[in-house]
Amino acid sequence: CGIVGYVGSNKSVEVLLGGLRRLEYRGYDSAGIAVIDPEGELHTRKRAGKLQVLIDDLDAANIANGSTGIGHTRWATHGGPNDQNAHPHLGDDGKLALIHNGIIENFAELKAELVAAHPDTVFTSETDTEVAALLVGLEYQKTGDLAEALRNVVARLHGAFTLLVLHKDEPGVVVGARRNSPLVIGLGDGENFLGSDVAAFVEHTRRAVAIGQDQIVTITSDAVRVTDFDGLPVESQEFEITWDASAAEKGGWSSFMAKEISEEPEAISKTLLGRIVDGAVRLSELDVLGEGALANIDRVVILGCGTASYSGMLGKYAIEKWARIPVDVELSHEFRYRDPVINDRTLVVSISQSGETMDTLMAVKYAVAAGAKTLSICNTQGATIARESDAAIYTHAGPEVAVASTKAFVAQVAALYLFGLHLAQVRGTLSPEEISGLLGELQALPDQLATVLEQHDAITQLAGWMTDTRSVLFLGRHAGYPVALEGALKLKELAYIHAEGFAAGELKHGPIALIEPGQPVFVIVPSPRAKDSLHKKVVSNIQEIRARGARILAIAEQGDAAVLPYADLVIPIPLASTLFEPLLAVAPLQIFAMELAAAKGLDVDQPRNLAKSVTVE
Ligand code: G6P
Repeated sequence: CGIVGYVGSNKSVEVLLGGLRRLEYRGYDSAGIAVIDPEGELHTRKRAGKLQVLIDDLDAANIANGSTGIGHTRWATHGGPNDQNAHPHLGDDGKLALIHNGIIENFAELKAELVAAHPDTVFTSETDTEVAALLVGLEYQKTGDLAEALRNVVARLHGAFTLLVLHKDEPGVVVGARRNSPLVIGLGDGENFLGSDVAAFVEHTRRAVAIGQDQIVTITSDAVRVTDFDGLPVESQEFEITWDASAAEKGGWSSFMAKEISEEPEAISKTLLGRIVDGAVRLSELDVLGEGALANIDRVVILGCGTASYSGMLGKYAIEKWARIPVDVELSHEFRYRDPVINDRTLVVSISQSGETMDTLMAVKYAVAAGAKTLSICNTQGATIARESDAAIYTHAGPEVAVASTKAFVAQVAALYLFGLHLAQVRGTLSPEEISGLLGELQALPDQLATVLEQHDAITQLAGWMTDTRSVLFLGRHAGYPVALEGALKLKELAYIHAEGFAAGELKHGPIALIEPGQPVFVIVPSPRAKDSLHKKVVSNIQEIRARGARILAIAEQGDAAVLPYADLVIPIPLASTLFEPLLAVAPLQIFAMELAAAKGLDVDQPRNLAKSVTVE
């Protein structure tokens, strides 16, 4: 869910809707706002559906702008996405409004206690949030102080949450509480903001303050106060937002996703910038780990979810090859619940674009508690996962708004490769010449990728022919395998078409039974010229399925004559060695999924049921 809060000069509705527009990627099942108008009246409005439904409703309702307000865009957890379950929820007989991101795990017990103490309580929704709103209302009746009331309630909550609350008797005040779910302060001039991330207020201010775990924040138009859950003041650090509001605008593009794919070459080059010095890797952000730390690890575990887990697979292939150290890749949500073997000689590398994915955050905390060293690869400044880790390598892909990750993926792979080469440097497993050669290949990728993106129109045409397709398979071997998985994920996410990615060698052990005449299969073909290439093996796999009637869509090196006789279509990519090829081969699959979804009339940036950053477990 996305959360925004504002106290300032009588323009709260505008600020809240602007903030929600930028946070809508976090959830778009329903949206709502609460504002205190200049007469001191509290107004709430909430509607199921995308933000635009709320905006249309607000136009009709003509709610007066006030100086204080909160806004919410929801990804449903407790209770379906309807008007009643949308936030804000009310307490203290309608005088208090509250919004929430996260899950209150003990809400059923709290609700039972509430009903036992106040049998006439009326619930208007099925949410855990409403219970919190009612409890804060009761505490306010006792204390008459909103921050204290919220503190008393959060002490009783289990789970993860960000809560924002306002009360008509304290106009000009918004109070927030944070445990695990994200919350950031924006510092303005005569106005202050709260948001799930800086995008909520970047058009108004570039000055931000991150709020730590288990902290309460109170904002007014000219002051910000942060305390812990006991009410004791805490120090917080201000940081500057390095990107401009326009970076999170669509510009002339048809979708954020189209814009973000076009930015992939830049995402890679910015991630490499300043980190390659005289043919060697320079990752100064790893210095905090201390001298010798990386020489002493005996295992690496890479964690992530969704697309980030596929970049992690490529990280494994690269790190094992270059640094000769065992690497496991695991989905974050599986890792921590199965009693994994980790210790102080394990390096846990977490990958997350948002840096807020709750599954990954919890896995990192687990790793920290188990004594492992932790490194995160994140794209969002000041992200919780980065702050909870010993060290962080930021990708510099810029804000990614479309739900389906694209430029962040290539930037993650670039960062992992830099890290793999850094490890090889530290451990002496590659010579300086080998490292410098590989870095040269990495630096050539942005220009090579730009030529791949020039084929957008041809891929759009292919997608246009395939709008009735019900199933697509993707095959790849070695570094092509994670690309196949990512191609299939993109098609599922965006075009709602059943898609599966397979390791090409595994096909004959079962999935080949799926092949029937006309079945479209994308195959990522390694370059025949790359060292140790599996080209011949993949061409054999193509022949096996072609013989059974599959339609082959090959992504292959420009001029690869061996695939031509068997492919219905070839999308050519420039020559790259095996580990670098994924950075060129993935974009055609991203474009294909996007254009197929667009051809079916679907919302490319906000696919159904998904959210960009899932801040619940
Ligand atoms: C969600 C998104 C995916 C994304 C995954 C991990 O499931 O829909 O596109 O890959 O989260 O997100 P993260 O921010 O941790 O990279």
